[in-house]
Amino acid sequence: MPFEEYTPKVMDHFLNPRNTGEVPEPTHSALVRNPVCGDLVKLTVRVKDGIVVEARTKTFGCAAAIASSSALTELLQGTSVEVARRIKNSDVVLHLGGLPEHKVACSVVAEQAVLEAFK
Ligand code: FES
Repeated sequence: MPFEEYTPKVMDHFLNPRNTGEVPEPTHSALVRNPVCGDLVKLTVRVKDGIVVEARTKTFGCAAAIASSSALTELLQGTSVEVARRIKNSDVVLHLGGLPEHKVACSVVAEQAVLEAFK
């Protein structure tokens, strides 16, 4: 896939993903697989006093999935659990400045990871 389709912000998150790895002793976690392509996202989170103080992801996937995971950690950190629970893939896409239409589905795994982690 040509990278010209991606916004500079997507490319930045893809090439320099934020908050990768795993939170030590997480309070919440999720392992989610994209049913279409099989790509995986592991999300680990530490919540203290109702606030997400740390969020990390390990993503085995395409550029859009890696960028979406990176954006997700930025959206999660510092927010309340109540707000975190309502994060949608559209919020992730907005944070990235957009995704090509046929790659929006790759951001859904980020939303599913949040739902699974905070169920
Ligand atoms: Fe699998 Fe993008 S192709 S998440």
